[in-house]
Amino acid sequence: MGAGKSTLGRALAERLGRPFVSVDDVVEERAAASVADIFERRGESAFRELEEEAAIDLLARRRLSVVEIGGGGLTSAATRAALVESAFTIHLETTAAEAWGRVGESGRPLARDPDEFRLLFEERRALYERSDGSARDLDGAVLAAAGVHVCAGGLDHIGELVPGSGPVELVVDEHVDSFYGERARAALGRRLTAAHLVPAGERAKTAGEAKRLWSALRLGRDGTIVALGGGSTIDLAGFSAATYVRGVTWATAPTTLLAQVDAGIGGKTAIDLPEGKNLVGAFHWPARTIVDPDTLATLPASEIENGRAEVVKTGLLAGEPLWELELPDQVRRCAAFKAAVCLRDPFDRGERRQLNLGHTFAHALEAASGYSLSHGHAVALGLLGALRVSGLEDEARRVEEILRPLPATVDRDLAWEALDRDKKAEGRRPRLVLLEAAGKPRLGVEVEPKLVRSVLESLIA
Ligand SMILES: NC(=O)c1ccc[n+]([C@@H]2O[C@H](COP(=O)([O-])OP(=O)(O)OC[C@H]3O[C@@H](n4cnc5c(N)ncnc54)[C@H](O)[C@@H]3O)[C@@H](O)[C@H]2O)c1
Ligand SMILES: [Zn+2]
Repeated sequence: MGAGKSTLGRALAERLGRPFVSVDDVVEERAAASVADIFERRGESAFRELEEEAAIDLLARRRLSVVEIGGGGLTSAATRAALVESAFTIHLETTAAEAWGRVGESGRPLARDPDEFRLLFEERRALYERSDGSARDLDGAVLAAAGVHVCAGGLDHIGELVPGSGPVELVVDEHVDSFYGERARAALGRRLTAAHLVPAGERAKTAGEAKRLWSALRLGRDGTIVALGGGSTIDLAGFSAATYVRGVTWATAPTTLLAQVDAGIGGKTAIDLPEGKNLVGAFHWPARTIVDPDTLATLPASEIENGRAEVVKTGLLAGEPLWELELPDQVRRCAAFKAAVCLRDPFDRGERRQLNLGHTFAHALEAASGYSLSHGHAVALGLLGALRVSGLEDEARRVEEILRPLPATVDRDLAWEALDRDKKAEGRRPRLVLLEAAGKPRLGVEVEPKLVRSVLESLIA
């Protein structure tokens, strides 16, 4: 009570594109009386009965929604069982003093005396702590719902943060292993039954490496794969988790900026084929993503630049200069943005495509360079391209100032062919993600091929 559930719950529902339902509202509607009236006339136990009935009915509907339930509701064992059965519960953290500040003297039945209020708060604390996740703000609630845990020093706690209690096998980038392998092993403790080193970076994303992992894994269905490394390791490990014994649980501790704000979130996994990148894969959401921004300390500057391009992309989509924040905050805000988009569209059927902003140009430039151009560099140019096609010259100049991408030295015709091939697969004319304004993406916009080509050429040296 007084944690700010109604306000945050409504905002969360809006961000996730789901309806918001309050158990109290349902009780009031059914009883045609206010909660305060029910307390007054019929007593607390009558209210608790109505509350239990309403909560169980709501949960039995199993509709994707955000449900607000008060701390008192958790005193019912039947409600708690229904929550375990059909909900992901988020405990909204607050202190007794903060909560009293919000509801003290508001006339609510259980908030009339500060001492009693504090006692009740302490009494119920144990119930709250059984929640599936906890949060202090809206981003925190989104992250909790997506299974993402952002915390400096989190690497030392992955043992507690990886869900379940079964055996764990670690899949780790061989280079990252030399920095963080020991800490991860120590933190996983006795749950760790094997560790598999995979080649550093993109070289891990091959069918050969997937096959090697399938043969080496010894996990049963109760086991968990934990991926430690950047997007490449995560993609390989996630794909292996999706396919091995028809799917095992997996978790990841991403160690690059790109993976902390992008690849470690949302459940897309893939390996490359000689015919192209990410051609074989699966949707398989990690049960936990443990983001420790401290691990970025050892990341080479070029890899930070790679991630920064996606951070700027996220800021443009969110309509906020997220790239200006200090790293830990930046990571948290960007991760929450991606998490919300992916929770709204987990299978990439609609609005998740906004995350491709700038990527049509980027993919064409990467392909034309024979993949010698880094993804970050290509995305930086791609964002310029998307902003120019969108007619947002000011934003384009801003991105140029922030990321300073040099024009790509690639063959113009090759780049155009790559873009054209990419887009022909989807329809006849190029369709791009554009921005109406910062924070207002437009998906699948048909654009004149001539305009696309001239903007593409403006990105080439
Ligand atoms: N699944 C998704 O949703 C998704 C999204 C974006 C990108 N990706 C994929 O991610 C891959 C790129 O991943 P990436 O950019 O994270 O890099 P990466 O995994 O390829 O690693 C890049 C390099 O950084 C090193 N490294 C990683 N963490 C380090 C650390 N903390 N300190 C020092 N060195 C470190 C690695 O050893 C490697 O040499 C691409 O294959 C891309 O397709 C996937
Ligand atoms: Zn990208």
